[in-house]
Amino acid sequence: MFTILTALLLLVAIASAYEKVCRVTPLGGGQDDGPNINSVFAECASEATIVLDGYYSVNTLLLTEGLSHVDILLSGTVQYTPDIAYWSPNSLYLTFQNATTFWFLSGDDIHLYGGGTIDGNGQVWYDTFNITGDSATAGASTRSFARPIPLTVGNASNVVVENITQWQSPNWASSFVYQSTNITYRNIYIDSFSYSSAPAKNTDGWDIYRSSQVTITDSTINNGDDCVSLKPNATEIIVTNLWCNGSHGISIGSLGQYAGETDIVANVFVKNITMRYAENGARIKVFGGSPDANSTAGGGTGYVRNVTFEDFYVYVVDDPVVIDQCYETDASVCAEYPSQLSISDIHYSNVTGTSSGDEGTVVVDLECSQECEDITASGIDITSPKGPATYVCQNIASENELGFNCTAPAS
Ligand SMILES: *[C@@H]1O[C@H](CO)[C@@H](O)[C@H](O)[C@H]1NC(C)=O
Ligand SMILES: *[C@@H]1O[C@H](CO)[C@@H](O)[C@H](O)[C@H]1NC(C)=O
Ligand SMILES: *[C@@H]1O[C@H](CO)[C@@H](O)[C@H](O)[C@H]1NC(C)=O
Ligand SMILES: *[C@@H]1O[C@H](CO)[C@@H](O)[C@H](O)[C@H]1NC(C)=O
Ligand SMILES: *[C@@H]1O[C@H](CO)[C@@H](O)[C@H](O)[C@H]1NC(C)=O
Ligand SMILES: *[C@@H]1O[C@H](CO)[C@@H](O)[C@H](O)[C@H]1NC(C)=O
Ligand SMILES: *[C@@H]1O[C@H](CO)[C@@H](O)[C@H](O)[C@H]1NC(C)=O
Ligand SMILES: *[C@@H]1O[C@H](CO)[C@@H](O)[C@H](O)[C@H]1NC(C)=O
Ligand SMILES: *[C@@H]1O[C@H](CO)[C@@H](O)[C@H](O)[C@H]1NC(C)=O
Ligand SMILES: *[C@@H]1O[C@H](CO)[C@@H](O)[C@H](O)[C@H]1NC(C)=O
Ligand SMILES: *[C@@H]1O[C@H](CO)[C@@H](O)[C@H](O)[C@H]1NC(C)=O
Ligand SMILES: *[C@@H]1O[C@H](CO)[C@@H](O)[C@H](O)[C@H]1NC(C)=O
Repeated sequence: MFTILTALLLLVAIASAYEKVCRVTPLGGGQDDGPNINSVFAECASEATIVLDGYYSVNTLLLTEGLSHVDILLSGTVQYTPDIAYWSPNSLYLTFQNATTFWFLSGDDIHLYGGGTIDGNGQVWYDTFNITGDSATAGASTRSFARPIPLTVGNASNVVVENITQWQSPNWASSFVYQSTNITYRNIYIDSFSYSSAPAKNTDGWDIYRSSQVTITDSTINNGDDCVSLKPNATEIIVTNLWCNGSHGISIGSLGQYAGETDIVANVFVKNITMRYAENGARIKVFGGSPDANSTAGGGTGYVRNVTFEDFYVYVVDDPVVIDQCYETDASVCAEYPSQLSISDIHYSNVTGTSSGDEGTVVVDLECSQECEDITASGIDITSPKGPATYVCQNIASENELGFNCTAPAS
């Protein structure tokens, strides 16, 4: 009776969306469901609801492109196999940072929802990376050990992803927003933790690249790298109501790494973020300049402009508020070759809580290598366990609009 009722309710709910309903039947027994998923997406690529309500073991790249007006009801689990030998060469190569992905979801007007799970099965990747390290990573350069991203919404427009859990991403980003417009995530639960002594490295929540009009809201993230990361050309971004734990903060950057490249991050609004046990709270990281015309370690141009960070609650955070415009660059290089990527129109309000004390008494650290303009702060009330809070500033044109007294960086 219960099953019949549930089935009826399900049909009613689905019928309200599109008439065409396509369910992917799980094969079971650990067989690869990837080919069936791909063919159902191809058959039902337009005006349809695709139902993923079972347990799917996936050992084939999910390339679901050209979708138009599609609902994806994921109430089951999509779990990628930890088959490093298969995935490293066969996951989809995305060029940016040599990233690869298990699932490239592409098209217009897509709604992915349903309370289900995307399981990256990251443990084997964490344990292997812990032993082989960067030597085997090489991103996709050798493809002998490329750690794929579980879900990439790429070349897409008008997409909503909601009510989804993401377990154990093998690499940076549980979710990658790639060359897309008008993408919303809400009610997402991300947990990338390691059960072994190997850390869950580079496990960002979201990365946003060459995309605009992206909203991330009402979500809980437990991970080991950026909670949200805005990469080159992320514009018109709204990030609100997140609970982030164990992360590296809400990060803009890193930007300006490649000479000859222009990176832009603009029109960003971040509000109501709880940040616990994190390296950073609100962070902007930009490489310094470089004398080398072909540099891959700084020297890029562009700007970070019009960014608001509002209502941050920090608890045991190393750097609650930080701008580093000499990121991964020697101070001596920045002194001679300041960053070519400008930072302006950045506003912090109501950042409260406690730092970890990892940076001593410093709770705010705003260090620009070329002058940063129109940086304002109000309502900064952060305590340090190491003593009365201090605030470090360098090359901030608007020091009198910070609401605290700056000290120079220790040299
Ligand atoms: C998502 O979950 C919320 C809270 O459980 C629920 O109110 C909402 O209807 C769900 N949305 C969808 C599209 O399933
Ligand atoms: C990407 O791979 C190329 C070689 O194909 C390598 O030179 C480069 O350093 C890699 N980039 C990253 C970010 O890993
Ligand atoms: C995404 O779009 C770009 C630019 O149109 C294209 O070159 C690329 O092949 C597309 N990627 C995929 C995986 O379809
Ligand atoms: C963004 O996408 C959502 C979901 O498809 C849609 O309802 C909304 O109208 C779109 N917004 C714009 C500005 O196109
Ligand atoms: C991870 O690496 C550390 C340092 O090399 C080592 O002590 C630890 O045993 C490794 N853990 C696993 C699960 O391989
Ligand atoms: C702020 O975000 C938290 C999640 O961290 C959420 O529970 C709370 O409702 C949000 N507050 C407002 C006013 O939206
Ligand atoms: C939060 O992160 C800390 C540090 O990584 C971890 O020890 C703790 O278990 C996490 N808390 C939750 C509720 O996951
Ligand atoms: C970012 O956008 C600017 C302006 O459209 C463009 O010149 C630049 O090449 C883009 N950079 C990247 C990394 O896509
Ligand atoms: C600044 O960014 C906010 C948030 O995206 C946006 O609403 C506002 O229009 C932007 N201001 C300008 C001058 O572009
Ligand atoms: C930079 O790249 C150009 C074109 O690839 C090459 O001609 C030039 O020799 C390179 N310069 C350096 C300093 O490597
Ligand atoms: C910051 O907090 C103060 C005091 O609670 C409040 O009056 C003000 O409106 C808040 N500012 C913003 C931008 O939320
Ligand atoms: C900054 O320093 C001046 C001079 O020592 C002092 O009068 C002022 O109260 C300080 N302001 C703050 C916000 O601590």
